Amino acid sequence: MKVLLTGANGQLGRCFQDRLPADWHILATDFAELDITDLEQVTAAVIAFKPDAIVNAAAYTAVDKAESDVELAERINVAGPANLARVAAQHGIRLVHVSTDYVFDGNASTPYTEQSPTNPLSVYGKTKLAGEQAVSATAPDAIIVRTAWVFSEYGNNFVKTMLRLGKERDALSIVDDQRGCPTYAGDLAQVIIALLQQNAAGGIYHYTGDKEVSWFEFAQAIFTVAVQKSVLNKSPTLTPITTAQYPTPAHRPAYSTLASDKIKGLGIALSDWQGALKKTI
Ligand SMILES: NC(=O)c1ccc[n+]([C@@H]2O[C@H](COP(=O)([O-])OP(=O)(O)OC[C@H]3O[C@@H](n4cnc5c(N)ncnc54)[C@H](OP(=O)(O)O)[C@@H]3O)[C@@H](O)[C@H]2O)c1
Repeated sequence: MKVLLTGANGQLGRCFQDRLPADWHILATDFAELDITDLEQVTAAVIAFKPDAIVNAAAYTAVDKAESDVELAERINVAGPANLARVAAQHGIRLVHVSTDYVFDGNASTPYTEQSPTNPLSVYGKTKLAGEQAVSATAPDAIIVRTAWVFSEYGNNFVKTMLRLGKERDALSIVDDQRGCPTYAGDLAQVIIALLQQNAAGGIYHYTGDKEVSWFEFAQAIFTVAVQKSVLNKSPTLTPITTAQYPTPAHRPAYSTLASDKIKGLGIALSDWQGALKKTI
């Protein structure tokens, strides 16, 4: 299997390279080597490398910044995946694209399935949804994996932010009325590999961690492990607050748990994020 990886320096991109099967070949690219918004660059890379699959780990992921940076978010999250889908379809290459729980509005009280109506609240969510739609319209056999609350040992994520703040401050206030499922990027990478190995049918798949929490509960779990592992001497005092008490430029869904029955039906287990959190910390 020859894989063209985009966004190789991000959380998912790095984890994907770490887990690459020994007999797979990879061309790992990030913005400097391959800008996915540039159709000519994408075409040239595909013609030169002749991949069997493209894994798109590139994205504009700064949720709050996207509110005032709409054009760039659209280019990276919509035009970029559309370019990849176009070239993949032209050359008969499998495309795996990654999307987000933020395509939903969070008004549900039971987990969202792949068929649930979407209604993104933020620019980021809107661009990711438009990216999904561009991919499925152009490359119907593309695999789109929606995931959520991604963390890893790489890049920027909630776990690293908490560990940094835990060193700097004695007390933290954390939002307790947004619920979702943390997902370890290494498990997501492994699942993308499994989907390619299985030659899974095209379409949308939900894949997240196996236990729903609020950001406050996620922070509690992070500090419990950090103290157990002696990464921190003590946990800061944590205070649960509401979204209204912590206004951000982007609106986020209050509830974004994804139902993962479809992917579980392929024999894929959900991410044991609590186990992965211990290893990550
Ligand atoms: N992080 C989360 O909590 C979360 C939640 C749900 C879904 N997701 C989805 O999961 C996927 C992976 O997320 P992640 O957390 O691994 O993202 P990430 O760490 O932000 O990595 C994204 C990578 O894409 C690169 N990139 C940006 N623009 C590019 C371009 N035009 N061409 C090529 N590369 C470009 C970035 O480079 P620079 O850093 O230089 O910009 C970065 O290395 C994304 O599709 C994201 O939407 C993430």
